[in-house]
Amino acid sequence: MFEKRVRVGFIGCGHHSMESLQPAVSLIPRFDYVAACDLDAEKAREAARRFGARKTYTDYVEMVDEESPDAVVIVGPPPLHEEAGVSCLKKGLHVFVEKPPSLTLDGARRLMEAMKSSGRICMVGTHWRHMPVHRALKTLSEREVFGEVFRLEATYLAPDTRGAWGLSFEWGFMLNQAVHPMDCLQFLGGRVVEAEARGVVEEGRKLAVSASLIFASGAVGSFTLGGCSPLFYERVGVQGTGGWAEAEQFKRLRYAGRERWIEPTDPSAIQTLVFEHGSHYRGVSRPGYVEELEVFAESVLSGGHPHADAEDAYYALKTLDAIVKSIEKGGSVRID
Ligand SMILES: NC(=O)c1ccc[n+]([C@@H]2O[C@H](COP(=O)([O-])OP(=O)(O)OC[C@H]3O[C@@H](n4cnc5c(N)ncnc54)[C@H](O)[C@@H]3O)[C@@H](O)[C@H]2O)c1
Repeated sequence: MFEKRVRVGFIGCGHHSMESLQPAVSLIPRFDYVAACDLDAEKAREAARRFGARKTYTDYVEMVDEESPDAVVIVGPPPLHEEAGVSCLKKGLHVFVEKPPSLTLDGARRLMEAMKSSGRICMVGTHWRHMPVHRALKTLSEREVFGEVFRLEATYLAPDTRGAWGLSFEWGFMLNQAVHPMDCLQFLGGRVVEAEARGVVEEGRKLAVSASLIFASGAVGSFTLGGCSPLFYERVGVQGTGGWAEAEQFKRLRYAGRERWIEPTDPSAIQTLVFEHGSHYRGVSRPGYVEELEVFAESVLSGGHPHADAEDAYYALKTLDAIVKSIEKGGSVRID
């Protein structure tokens, strides 16, 4: 049993909270689940029944004032992430908000600034970078034999047929879906400084985006999105001067190194690692959810600063905004 635990409260007990994050919290002994809050009292009571929250609330300000938790996990409509996130940071709490941090770039910046002035942790839920397969991809790409990373790519197809949260199709898709592969590319390649994109967007029928990216490191990236898709499909790849590695569908990792390369067509030159798990992983809907909350708990307890914070999320949104602007106006857009 761990001596020190993070006293945590949940704000928002809707679908994602109850299906993925609260089950994850109940698997992490470093958390002490003190209270659940939802505008709908029955949802908060359900959280207490299923995941052991000791008290329930319908007003998060009251919950925070009465329980004084160390940290909150906020999983609501995006404006709540910004509003409750800023409010809790100002009260000295550590915060984990789901993606997107806000519906606007300005809102994401406000959350980032509140994090910086509070000195507290503000992580944003970006489970792709915490998945075992993407962690392994990063570890491979950082090995000396992999050399200098000079090319990255991500392809992501998702079923959305209209913009989430009443937004335009393209911006809603960026905030709801594209934020995941963009965050993963930043995790692997660092900040993006320039984007040039083309796109076709027709609500209810099609969404296609093809963007070319320049990273601060000088690496070049390609970013491909498809909406109205009959399936989810994900692929993330990295090429270095000494090797190539690609993760597909959160499960398969393929790697080829230039060292000891014998015949370019020799299939044994490609090493494949398969992360075997079914539709559920560690009892939770997808890999990455338990891991991101483990990082949150460990950072709160150790006083360390986690990656995937409100600043990373702000820059991911800035890049997605640059892609939308490039589609609308043509030409390349700088990201400061
Ligand atoms: N990372 C992922 O893979 C992933 C997956 C699904 C959803 N999400 C994100 O999770 C968030 C929630 O999505 P969802 O599908 O669970 O939505 P949802 O509508 O099912 O849940 C939102 C909940 O927040 C509650 N709420 C609203 N205002 C509140 C307030 N002021 N105080 C307390 N509770 C309040 C609502 O009553 C509702 O129960 C979204 O931002 C979504 O993008 C992330």
